[in-house]
Amino acid sequence: MTTADRFNLAGKVALITGAAGGIGRVTAARLADEGASVVVTDIDEQACNELTDELTAQGHRALGTALDVTDKDSADAAVATAASTLGHVDLLINNAIVACPVPQKLHEAPISLWNTDLDVIVKGAVHCCQAVLPSMMERRAGAIVNVVSVNAFAFYGHPSYSAAKAALVSFTRSLAVEYGPFGIRANAVNPGTIRTPAWAEQEAKDPAVFDALTQWYPLGRIGSPEDVAAAICFLASGSASWITGSVLTVDGGLTAGNSVMARSVEGN
Ligand SMILES: NC(=O)c1ccc[n+]([C@@H]2O[C@H](COP(=O)([O-])OP(=O)(O)OC[C@H]3O[C@@H](n4cnc5c(N)ncnc54)[C@H](O)[C@@H]3O)[C@@H](O)[C@H]2O)c1
Repeated sequence: MTTADRFNLAGKVALITGAAGGIGRVTAARLADEGASVVVTDIDEQACNELTDELTAQGHRALGTALDVTDKDSADAAVATAASTLGHVDLLINNAIVACPVPQKLHEAPISLWNTDLDVIVKGAVHCCQAVLPSMMERRAGAIVNVVSVNAFAFYGHPSYSAAKAALVSFTRSLAVEYGPFGIRANAVNPGTIRTPAWAEQEAKDPAVFDALTQWYPLGRIGSPEDVAAAICFLASGSASWITGSVLTVDGGLTAGNSVMARSVEGN
């Protein structure tokens, strides 16, 4: 990384949910590299503690704490622990998901799938925002980055996930408008396919799944957690100080158009 790639987060306390996952882990490390003190949270407490130990061993300030985003008390407790140990949370990254199987048929999808996606993605972000907003409002500063997905804007095969991510885009805009007057920004990062453990089940079924997906990406590759972490750190940083309510798409050009369709029209 060159100095031109850097986003200064020195002196900030950043809390990330789902930090033990593919994007969460890399983002936690990038936040720390940019100078933030990082509250490493996940439902998987052991994984949080291991990541925290790694970051601490590298000389970063980090605190690991279990946080189940579906439980408001858990969110409140994690934010309180962070405040008493590292300081008030300046930056919140809502990143947690449960990687659910893609239902074969929409009308047969169990309602439990809908409950999981809506509970973790939508209500989870609400719980965490409710936990951090009072202190951000008091200090008249803060930044929230919600990790959404290209599935929020078009259908790619997972109805409940798509609907939950679309709701999270809407919630991002509500936050931006309601809390802008308090100096609090809220934005979304919108990734395309990223190779992470969330894909483990599909990859086990079809080891070539990422090769098959590559054809849809104008930049000729699927994304990495590093691609998403950089966008998150940008939106969390002062470099984005007049950006709020926006969605930053990080998808290698996937949603810019459809080259396979274009080629078929041109007969190439
Ligand atoms: N991987 C992709 O292709 C992709 C594409 C677009 C968007 N995204 C988004 O990126 C974010 C991270 O995805 P990922 O691929 O790293 O997923 P991942 O499955 O690797 O990580 C998700 C993490 O969330 C944690 N988690 C699950 N339930 C939780 C709960 N109730 N409370 C707190 N933590 C919980 C899991 O333990 C896990 O560590 C998600 O918001 C996802 O929707 C991913």
